Amino acid sequence: MRTFQQENSRLRWITLSSSEVSVDEGEDVIRGLKQMPKTLPCRYFYDDRGSELFEQICDLPEYYPTRTEQAILETYALEIAHLTGACELVELGSGSSRKTRLLLEAYSQLNPHLQYCPIDVSAGILKTTALDLLRQYPKLSLCGLAGTYEQALAQLPRFGLARRLLIFLGSTLGNLDEQACDNFLTHIQQALQPGEFFLLGVDLHKPAEILEAAYNDAQGVTAAFNLNMLNHLNHRFQSNFDLDQFAHAAIYNQIEHQIEMHVRSLKNQTIELQSLDCTVALQAQETIRTEISRKFHLPTLISVLENHALQPLQVWTDPQSWFALMLCQRQCMDSECP
Ligand code: AVJ
Repeated sequence: MRTFQQENSRLRWITLSSSEVSVDEGEDVIRGLKQMPKTLPCRYFYDDRGSELFEQICDLPEYYPTRTEQAILETYALEIAHLTGACELVELGSGSSRKTRLLLEAYSQLNPHLQYCPIDVSAGILKTTALDLLRQYPKLSLCGLAGTYEQALAQLPRFGLARRLLIFLGSTLGNLDEQACDNFLTHIQQALQPGEFFLLGVDLHKPAEILEAAYNDAQGVTAAFNLNMLNHLNHRFQSNFDLDQFAHAAIYNQIEHQIEMHVRSLKNQTIELQSLDCTVALQAQETIRTEISRKFHLPTLISVLENHALQPLQVWTDPQSWFALMLCQRQCMDSECP
């Protein structure tokens, strides 16, 4: 089902519900917990509290990705806008849209009557952000979409004839393993017409000490963010995770080039997820992996994108080459362009 709501002439809401997706609510949780080793899907970080904690992570001295990407955007947003020309902007995982504001500024120089469609699983942050943006940009039109990426990409509304720029920042691509990344890029490819654009921000290889510090901050905000997932599950699925009986862990896997975040059980315990009719036994010291955050090798990623008909036109990095912003253009495939 799709709920549609017109708040005023400049703001529409679309809420996508889980009946439209292949995964039933919570089935991904059960599947992860039955796996060996156990995992939980990282999208459950982002209830309203989790989105707030993530905003705090972005300001931590150790967490370099947000500010590095922001600095790249500050330097190149206008160049990006000139390369693509006027576009409607669609953003996956928009959160507070703080970095996107730089793009909104740049694109409204090309066309003040800009269309922006933020998509996020957290309806709370989506709403606050939308109202804030409408106040700040008097000519902007917004279509907020609450749902997962899979839901949203499968049924993105088209505003009009404008070309589309799909935006995916913050290295969220790194949360997907190779297979999931492949499927995701196939959906991106399908959501774009030939000639349209995909703007992607990704975190790159760097020394393990820097990475591990970024995910084990001194103030413990990342630990709180990680453990908050259990609290979210408690509310959502009537489960009984006791946050005092778990600890945060984040390590860099140098072979896979990925940060792996876990919650570690501090004792032998049994967890029940009542509404999912699921019981899970945990040994003392056993971990549940809550997130992978892959760090990319640019030439490899470029060829993966090319294999999905997404041609990188330009890549921008910071002076240390810690983070990259890539502008890709959807290519014509032989079957589409005779
Ligand atoms: C925005 C999802 C990419 O993996 O760095 C931050 C999330 N997790 N600290 C990341 C996150 C722990 C972040 N992503």
